[in-house]
Amino acid sequence: MSFLSEIQRRRTFGIISHPDAGKTTLTEKLLLFGGAIQEAGAVKSNKIKKGATSDFMEIERQRGISVATSVLAFEYNGIKINILDTPGHKDFAEDTFRTLTAVDSVIVVIDVAKGVEEQTEKLVEVCRMRNIPMIVFINKLDREGKDAFDLLDEVEQKLGLTVTPLSFPIGMGYDFKGIYNIWEKNVNLFSGDSRKDIEETIEVSDLNSSELNTLLGDIAANQLREDIELTDGIYPSFDKDAYLNGDLQPVFFGSALNNFGVRELLDCFVDIAPKPRAKQSEERLVKPDENKFTGFVFKIHANMDPNHRDRLAFIKIVSGEFKRNTPYLHVRNKKKLKFSSPNAFFAEKKQIVDISYPGDIVGLHDTGNFKIGDTLTEGEIINYKGIPSFSPEHFRYINNADPMKAKQLYKGIDQLMDEGVAQLFTLEMNGRKVIGTVGALQYEVIQYRLEHEYGAKCTYENLNVHKACWVDPEDEKNTEFAEFKRVKQRYLAKDKSGQLVFLADSVFSLQMTQQKYPSITFHLTSEFE
Ligand code: G4P
Repeated sequence: MSFLSEIQRRRTFGIISHPDAGKTTLTEKLLLFGGAIQEAGAVKSNKIKKGATSDFMEIERQRGISVATSVLAFEYNGIKINILDTPGHKDFAEDTFRTLTAVDSVIVVIDVAKGVEEQTEKLVEVCRMRNIPMIVFINKLDREGKDAFDLLDEVEQKLGLTVTPLSFPIGMGYDFKGIYNIWEKNVNLFSGDSRKDIEETIEVSDLNSSELNTLLGDIAANQLREDIELTDGIYPSFDKDAYLNGDLQPVFFGSALNNFGVRELLDCFVDIAPKPRAKQSEERLVKPDENKFTGFVFKIHANMDPNHRDRLAFIKIVSGEFKRNTPYLHVRNKKKLKFSSPNAFFAEKKQIVDISYPGDIVGLHDTGNFKIGDTLTEGEIINYKGIPSFSPEHFRYINNADPMKAKQLYKGIDQLMDEGVAQLFTLEMNGRKVIGTVGALQYEVIQYRLEHEYGAKCTYENLNVHKACWVDPEDEKNTEFAEFKRVKQRYLAKDKSGQLVFLADSVFSLQMTQQKYPSITFHLTSEFE
């Protein structure tokens, strides 16, 4: 197959949802369609069960599973599909944000009873800002839930999307009869008894045919006709370009657990979802069909095996072919590196591959060369944009609890921060180190890993910080900035890349500081124009 057709046939996407909406179940059903796994239950949920936050084994289990499910690839009708795992747990939200820089589109899963939940809102906002094409899947139709129109409304209001349904439920919960596939114009009936399989697919090109009454009964058939007429009137008709530009989001309904409505979603997905897209770097726009290889690191994972302390760096290939045993330039380190055993991912296994294409993810063994956001090329200086850090929610001083192991501690902290586990801030005033995290869980992960992987011990001390704000002065030389630095010295720190950060201790102090120093902008993410 030619290089160009290899690109054309790739679809790389992520499934995002609030925990429990059915992401794992849907992933598994998609893999079953691709024949990549043989039975349900093969894909392990990577969520942390409630109440397990202090259980180290649970953290380890979580890490192990998230390596296994980081990338799940399969083939369907000649299309190579790469699903990138996005942890739903809010403590790992940053991991998910970073993974979203490596997807070309997403599927958003929503629970029909719970509607739009908090994590969904946050993740969709990131996708919307980046114009990532999104398809919405409303799940668990076999249960009682919200009215379909109310839900579509909620999705529009809360998520700020413009939706158009491409399938529509016939009944719900106990009365769930099936789905009308607007995209293909047919009706799929749900087997009421076993509630497990699709009973039959019936082509209904004319919604007014009496056959529909025979199939569904008069009431349900008339209701469906009314519903579809209403959707025609309210929602814009599907437009592929609008979807690809992030301006229109098609919606599907179904029940992942019962594998109902999933094939409709998958068939439409392979038809409309974008193939690998061009990516903006600081230097220029890079197109996937360029001959020379470029790619970037969006995730780093420590090896679970204590005998192999190396890490796995996940690279998204943006352009060209990535070949085994070929020297590539590590742009930040200005070093050439060769990889003898790049891993590709297939279903839940990984295997060594000789060649990978744009859209694919390769896992490279790393002994500490990479950090998140690093770029690899054939020689050109390219730095891919768009892996910002967000202000952490929790802040604690980190102290060395074993003076003999200071070197190990700093090496450990350094590497864990490169992996993106948390963020390190060094106070300007006294050089003390502060760890900022999205969730409290990360502190336990860090402490545990420092001890088990680096032989170092740490303790934490609380620090009252509301938000970390990256400081962006209009003019670094003006007196206002000098005054700010003098007055606020106690609250200033440098992040790991040396950028100046203001650690505001409350909403109020942030507002006051903003008012007092109008020529300085305070950003809640590390990347700004
Ligand atoms: P997540 O990855 O988004 O966190 O969700 P996951 O797929 O693990 O699903 C969460 C729960 O919802 C699971 O039940 C799962 O079986 C159930 N579920 C998923 N899809 C459907 C559906 O279409 N209909 C119904 N009725 N339930 C669905 P659980 O009891 O929490 O876990 P388990 O013990 O079944 O694994």
